[in-house]
Amino acid sequence: MAAAGLALPWLQTGCIRNRPLPRLLASRAPLPPQFAVPLPRPPVLRPVRSDDKSDYYEMTARTAKLPILPGLTTEIWGYEGTVPGPTIEARQGRAVSLKLRNELARPIVNHLHGGRTPPESDGYPTDLILPVSGWDVAAHRGMSGMAGDPRARISQGERIHTYPNEQRAATLWYHDHRMDFTAAQVWRGLAGFYILRDEDELKLPLPRGEKEWPLLICDRSFDRDGSLLYPSLDRALLERGGVEPEYMGGVLGDVMLVNGAPWPQLEVANTRYRFRILNACNARQLELALETSGAGPREFVQIGSDGGLLAAPLRHKTIRMAPAERFDVVIDFAGVPKGAAVTLVNRAGTGAMAQILRFVVAREEKDEATVPERLSTLEPADASRATVTRTFDFSYQGMDRQGMERGWTINGKPFDAARMDATPKLGATEIWQMRTDFSHPLHLHLVHFQVLSHSGRPGPYDAGMKDTLNLGAGQTANLLIHFAGYRGRYVFHCHNLEHEDMAMMANFEVV
Ligand code: C2O
Ligand code: CU
Ligand code: CU
Repeated sequence: MAAAGLALPWLQTGCIRNRPLPRLLASRAPLPPQFAVPLPRPPVLRPVRSDDKSDYYEMTARTAKLPILPGLTTEIWGYEGTVPGPTIEARQGRAVSLKLRNELARPIVNHLHGGRTPPESDGYPTDLILPVSGWDVAAHRGMSGMAGDPRARISQGERIHTYPNEQRAATLWYHDHRMDFTAAQVWRGLAGFYILRDEDELKLPLPRGEKEWPLLICDRSFDRDGSLLYPSLDRALLERGGVEPEYMGGVLGDVMLVNGAPWPQLEVANTRYRFRILNACNARQLELALETSGAGPREFVQIGSDGGLLAAPLRHKTIRMAPAERFDVVIDFAGVPKGAAVTLVNRAGTGAMAQILRFVVAREEKDEATVPERLSTLEPADASRATVTRTFDFSYQGMDRQGMERGWTINGKPFDAARMDATPKLGATEIWQMRTDFSHPLHLHLVHFQVLSHSGRPGPYDAGMKDTLNLGAGQTANLLIHFAGYRGRYVFHCHNLEHEDMAMMANFEVV
């Protein structure tokens, strides 16, 4: 975008004292009642064919009108027309080939978040899949991010992605990554789960089947007619990315959706359940806790994080989750009387946004599942293996020479597809020191990392293999990163999606 030499319209000009905070966008539609609809389970995508090495999937991104709020319909952009998109169930050692067709009227990009993916399938932000209906590339040359990237791999109408699944079992997710418009397009619905399983995990006696749920939590706002509200500068999502200046810090919704339903309810047995929780909000931090009126669970047993199982379970009374982080937890409903409720609440929210999901114990059953004290083998973080240390500063600051125009930057620079910010060697281990004056969920493509320090010791939510770090204001964290997998160009960025679209992204090339 800087390479395109365009004015960046969301830039704030002049002397700005304060970093902009995420801001609530209030719905104009009446808020729906809480705990009135059942929790939906996202449909599982079936392969169109399989051979001995791979499963072949086809998926279409298109619009659909869904009844999300009572009495209204909402036009969404969804994979297979659903929100969330269908879940892809993958097995370690079997590749997934995903053909994605774009029946939307705007370009899309597909990224598998947490996937160790070859660069040509990773969803680099300029690797656009143009609409099937046609797209006049010449007419949209001025679009920021489109110009100035000779390495962009643009495809017409559809694209085949290969996910090798040569990594440990983990809760991954796929979502849109279109240059400059990721936040607006994910907000419209372009996100879904990708659950990778392996033999080691399948041997464990964890809750499974009907007692294992993916939970995609996101906040959204709705207009009077039920349509989604979003403060894009360019409502047509054609030329100019970013949001209105007052939302520059991030957009917060006032309706909490879990698997696409507002404040739903789930009937459970009085046994253990496994929940793979994803914070799919654009900019909202969550602080999960459990509330019960009588007997019942008051803690989560964390069994996994972004990059799969922990070595041993960890107990938490609350879990702080930044956008894009995943927490794999077991909740034990033993001892909750039949008919009683347990509520998953958000201590970081107020009013209706302090509520998420209600469980009601509807039946008594014998529990077949347990949580073993040893879950998997993780190599201890060994900082002495690192051969290179790099430092990245995430800040809100001047982006031009005079320091007058301010934006979200990494080492003082806005994203530029033509600039390489780090060139780690394939197979190398490095320490990346991340520093910020503000809260940013930082994410690297391709790799998982271990947190060596996080303003002191690793934080309570940093255990295991991570791909997203919840870096708070004024904090410094050291990440131990092993660059395994593939050579090629990838991005790292803030996963507050408004920050990401407004330039807080950079490149690394594995060489
Ligand atoms: Cu989930 Cu580049 O992001
Ligand atoms: Cu990613
Ligand atoms: Cu940020």
